Amino acid sequence: MQTTLIFLKPDAVQRGLIGRIVTRFEEKGLQIVGAKLMMVSRELAEKHYAVHQGKKFYDSLLRFVTASPVFVMAIRGNNAIEISRKMMGATFGSKAEPGTIRGDFGVSNTFNLIHGSDSPETAASELALWFAPGEIVTYDRPVQTWIYDCSSGQPE
Ligand code: RTP
Ligand code: MG
Repeated sequence: MQTTLIFLKPDAVQRGLIGRIVTRFEEKGLQIVGAKLMMVSRELAEKHYAVHQGKKFYDSLLRFVTASPVFVMAIRGNNAIEISRKMMGATFGSKAEPGTIRGDFGVSNTFNLIHGSDSPETAASELALWFAPGEIVTYDRPVQTWIYDCSSGQPE
């Protein structure tokens, strides 16, 4: 099982899309193991987007994510990182395929509604950055045996 860090950006929160986007992850069968609404400090935004420092969109990106609350989630499932990235769609709403979150709900490039970790390494570091110990909750879901074929002993 993988856990990935997803956050709904200020545009998604302001536009009242939290429920519709969270529903997509729930309906897919992924498990929400952490969730909170929060303002992002400049310091947290700088750490999260350190890889983009120096790029032309960096300053406006930091202004955007610190302007209004974000809705942060830890989401778990087999291959959850790749599945979530596929559900999000291409970075720019103008390019993202219909059927994806960015493709269905947005047209902007910077205001693209959602962030998702892009590799197991970034997921681990982003989860540690955004969630304090104890905020991610491991719990049994009986329905898991109907979400995955567990007949081999492993969820598939
Ligand atoms: P994210 O990190 O937010 O999940 O998005 P991503 O991997 O699809 O895209 P990334 O290249 O990591 O870019 C991070 C965020 O910066 C904004 N951006 N704006 N205007 C621009 O040219 C531009 N390029 C990137 C987007 O908000 C993007 O999600
Ligand atoms: Mg990225």
